[in-house]
Amino acid sequence: MALNYFSMVLISTLVLPFLPAAWAQAKPSVSRVFVQCLHRNSLPSHPISQAIYTPENSSYVENLNIYARNLRFCKRDTPKPLAIIAAMHESHVRAAIMCCNKTNLLMRVRSGGHDYEGLSYTANMPFVILDMFNLRSIDIDLEQDTAWVESGALLGELYYRIASMSSTRAFPAGVCPTVGVGGHFSGGGYGTLIRKYGLSVDNIVDAKIMGLDGIVKDRKAMGEDLFWAIRGGGGASFGVILSWKLKLVQVPETVTVFVVDKTTEQGGLADIVYKYQNVVTKLPKDLFLRMELSTIGENKKTIKASFIGFFLGKTKELLELTKNNFPELGLDQHYCTEMKWIESVLYWDGIPKGASINVLLERVWHNKSYTKSKSDFIKNIVPKQGLEFIFAKMVQLGGDIVMQWNPYGGRMDEISENAVPLPQRAGYLFKIQHILYWYESRESHADKYMNESRQFYESMAPYVTRFPREAFLNYRDLDIGENALCNSSYTEAKSYGLKYFKGNFDRLVQVKTRVDPTNFFRNEQSIPPLLV
Ligand SMILES: Cc1cc2nc3c(=O)[nH]c(=O)nc-3n(C[C@H](O)[C@H](O)[C@H](O)COP(=O)(O)OP(=O)(O)OC[C@H]3O[C@@H](n4cnc5c(N)ncnc54)[C@H](O)[C@@H]3O)c2cc1C
Ligand SMILES: *[C@@H]1O[C@H](CO)[C@@H](O)[C@H](O)[C@H]1NC(C)=O
Ligand SMILES: *[C@@H]1O[C@H](CO)[C@@H](O)[C@H](O)[C@H]1NC(C)=O
Ligand SMILES: *[C@@H]1O[C@H](CO)[C@@H](O)[C@H](O)[C@H]1NC(C)=O
Ligand SMILES: *[C@@H]1O[C@H](CO)[C@@H](O)[C@H](O)[C@H]1NC(C)=O
Ligand SMILES: *[C@@H]1O[C@H](CO)[C@@H](O)[C@H](O)[C@H]1NC(C)=O
Repeated sequence: MALNYFSMVLISTLVLPFLPAAWAQAKPSVSRVFVQCLHRNSLPSHPISQAIYTPENSSYVENLNIYARNLRFCKRDTPKPLAIIAAMHESHVRAAIMCCNKTNLLMRVRSGGHDYEGLSYTANMPFVILDMFNLRSIDIDLEQDTAWVESGALLGELYYRIASMSSTRAFPAGVCPTVGVGGHFSGGGYGTLIRKYGLSVDNIVDAKIMGLDGIVKDRKAMGEDLFWAIRGGGGASFGVILSWKLKLVQVPETVTVFVVDKTTEQGGLADIVYKYQNVVTKLPKDLFLRMELSTIGENKKTIKASFIGFFLGKTKELLELTKNNFPELGLDQHYCTEMKWIESVLYWDGIPKGASINVLLERVWHNKSYTKSKSDFIKNIVPKQGLEFIFAKMVQLGGDIVMQWNPYGGRMDEISENAVPLPQRAGYLFKIQHILYWYESRESHADKYMNESRQFYESMAPYVTRFPREAFLNYRDLDIGENALCNSSYTEAKSYGLKYFKGNFDRLVQVKTRVDPTNFFRNEQSIPPLLV
């Protein structure tokens, strides 16, 4: 994000010399007018005072940071909000919308705060955060196999609650328990159940959203076009999503998980990865086999491929499957653990065996890192010499990249490319995530890491989708196009819009033009309305 001349800590009394003087002077009064507006627009039955945090409140900083997941956007000079409204009632959401519109403040909506570019908690212009964490009820109806989930709930809470009702129900969504459902579902959402049940949004049957008019609308009231748009097109362009209605899915009592590591030191790694590519998207839907490439060793010169498996069934059946289709994996009994689906959630999150599933209720992530991620899609098998090139490049650039391969196929092949805004369906083999993260002690090397991320992405170009080079909205990446002032024209928005949505971009623009013609709900990569 181009943190240009607005780059200042709004809470500090320091005013940078090049800050436009008029704006700096206007600031305290804007904040005061905004808070007064909130009070005027709150209901006596639901006073808003307890939901407002401004820099004068001692808990402001703690509240700002608690759900800010990426340390790249938690620095001293990261622009901070004039206020955080931690809504406790939908009337607070309404007041926040009305008062931002009235005082010309940008509104950031935050659910779990996992946005890779920090778009839910920082901005290049005066802004406030509408925080959803108080609105997180989960209401499960086992008779209908449905659940209403408020947008401030986190995936871990959702999974925990489903499992506490039934050991054979689940919901297809992300691997990390601290991701929020507000951002996650509105950007598509996927996890270990993607090959069996598709994206999260393929299993969402209703939602409640509030727009600039302050009216809460469900699916019927918002219309099918808007309901389509918010299931993958990003909520932040269309309104504040208050809740989602999910259709739960079936899982067996017992699932099997495993990890098998292979390295270049053992030899033949390109052959194994080549075979992996050829089989893994065609195997039965019950198997999801992710591959993570990283470097190991003192000099980060050895490539490790971790094959991380999730199987909806027992070990015996799994071993039959891998022996017949992918013997090179060398999977045997001793790698495999049978468990309940909810325990597999912990396993996939790297939580040590034997931990209580109560850890899923921990909302705060304590070991935060600086991260930069980018995404790609693969439609053609990467030849062996291409794999050798990728291994060499990872090492040559410094060995810090983790390249995650997520197989498609299965249910994803059965759904049309315009069922929801995310068009990657039949014919797509892998969703790739290029992950780079570092900790505080390495922060002085941030430029080097950012370069490594971008250079690796450049060098991957021959192997991934082109024209456009597609990307996954939930792995937000401002490098692929952005407007730092959050007011992209149609032409500007096309640069990132086609990468995320391909042919569905124009339909998103039409919906946007209908529901938010003044572009109140906007960010650096939002969908623009057509000028009317
Ligand atoms: C550690 C980690 C693991 C991840 N694993 C996965 C994974 O397995 N699968 C996957 O698909 N993705 C994954 N992601 C990506 C994740 O799905 C996205 O970052 C998602 O947008 C996060 O949602 P959030 O509510 O936590 O984020 P936020 O930062 O709160 O929001 C993200 C975006 O959505 C908007 N938004 C949030 N809430 C609302 C709302 N109620 N109404 C309207 N707009 C809203 C925000 O303004 C922002 O633009 C992962 C991310 C991280 C950091
Ligand atoms: C923040 O401070 C204001 C002014 O003192 C107060 O009215 C408000 O209740 C405080 N907010 C919270 C969440 O305590
Ligand atoms: C939002 O602000 C604009 C510009 O100030 C104003 O014209 C419009 O009526 C406002 N919308 C609502 C719903 O208050
Ligand atoms: C944070 O996680 C990293 C990577 O897993 C680990 O190396 C580091 O020791 C952890 N730090 C803390 C404080 O737990
Ligand atoms: C990062 O890349 C930029 C532009 O390519 C270059 O100017 C800069 O020196 C690089 N920084 C590091 C630390 O490699
Ligand atoms: C975006 O805002 C800038 C600054 O106010 C303005 O110059 C530009 O014309 C705007 N762009 C669009 C597409 O409205």
